[in-house]
Amino acid sequence: MRIAVVGATGEVGRMMIKVLEEHKVQPDELRLFASARTAGMSLLFGGKSYTVEELTHDVLREGFDYVLFSAGSDVAKEYAPTAAEAGSVVIDNSSAFRRDATIPLIVPEINGDILEGYRGIVANPNCSTIQMVLGLYEIHRRFGIKSIVVSTYQSVSGAGKKGMNELQSQIEGHIHPQKFVRQIHLNVIPHIGTILDNGFSDEEMKMVHETHKILRDDSISIWPTTVRVPVLYGHSEAIWIETRDAASLEDLRGAIESSEDVVLTDSVISPLEGAGTDFVYVSRLRAFDDRRFLMWNVADNIRVGAATNAVRILKKHRALNARNI
Ligand SMILES: NC(=O)c1ccc[n+]([C@@H]2O[C@H](COP(=O)([O-])OP(=O)(O)OC[C@H]3O[C@@H](n4cnc5c(N)ncnc54)[C@H](OP(=O)(O)O)[C@@H]3O)[C@@H](O)[C@H]2O)c1
Repeated sequence: MRIAVVGATGEVGRMMIKVLEEHKVQPDELRLFASARTAGMSLLFGGKSYTVEELTHDVLREGFDYVLFSAGSDVAKEYAPTAAEAGSVVIDNSSAFRRDATIPLIVPEINGDILEGYRGIVANPNCSTIQMVLGLYEIHRRFGIKSIVVSTYQSVSGAGKKGMNELQSQIEGHIHPQKFVRQIHLNVIPHIGTILDNGFSDEEMKMVHETHKILRDDSISIWPTTVRVPVLYGHSEAIWIETRDAASLEDLRGAIESSEDVVLTDSVISPLEGAGTDFVYVSRLRAFDDRRFLMWNVADNIRVGAATNAVRILKKHRALNARNI
């Protein structure tokens, strides 16, 4: 199996390399690509050193079994079609292709079946969406979710290397905001991405459109508020749902407990406990009646929200299409 990682030097790219290793994916050939800025840098995989190469159309024309992209939308739009035309299965972490009706948007535990017989570009959803749908999918399957009201608490690593550097430099006293619209150190910012004509941000609308596409149900009414907080790793979400069918708290507990890669716990889970793991943690489940429920949801945004989901897509695709790879 030949694998390429594009954006290998970034927050998500480095984690994809680590997660490939942890999940014991053993490529016969691994190539790492980034911009000219970091070409020549060395990165480790399986105890062996690999030199990062500058991304070009020509290298992608060589064709790989899988190309994992995490270099932003502009790079994905320019280069992912070249890789797909060369026969590679492309797994892209950016938002470039997520709303394209012809491109699968995949959380393998939920809609990985779509990958059977598929070749081309596969979109990896937004980090906040992935952890929310993983925690809600089984509830939706059993009781039907009518409405979701969600407030996110998103870590600075969700804004990549620049986001983390900005918090660090503000901790050291250089407070002028650049990446974020307000000071992030000792603050919270209720604004991620761009505010659209309808008053929602594009980050919030991703949670609406992507949840509909992954759960294959456009009828769910979704009301998101996305907030940046001065946490390094791990996104949290306060989620309120209304179900179509009546359910007890025990029914909901059963649904969440049976969800793949989700842990229901009575402990207090903060981003510090969730970071560094491949699970979504659901806690603080509570209700006043049998249709409306509140819960707290925590996951590592770089792993569950990006790198691990990408590697799970690769593994699922390979399992479903082994004879064709
Ligand atoms: N961080 C998250 O929680 C998260 C979650 C889900 C999805 N994502 C998405 O994943 C993507 C990467 O995010 P990130 O947080 O890893 O960002 P990042 O830390 O800023 O890394 C960006 C990567 O892209 C590379 N790159 C930039 N321009 C390039 C070009 N012209 N040609 C080739 N490589 C180029 C960079 O290479 P250099 O080092 O050479 O600049 C770096 O490897 C984004 O689309 C983001 O929206 C991120």
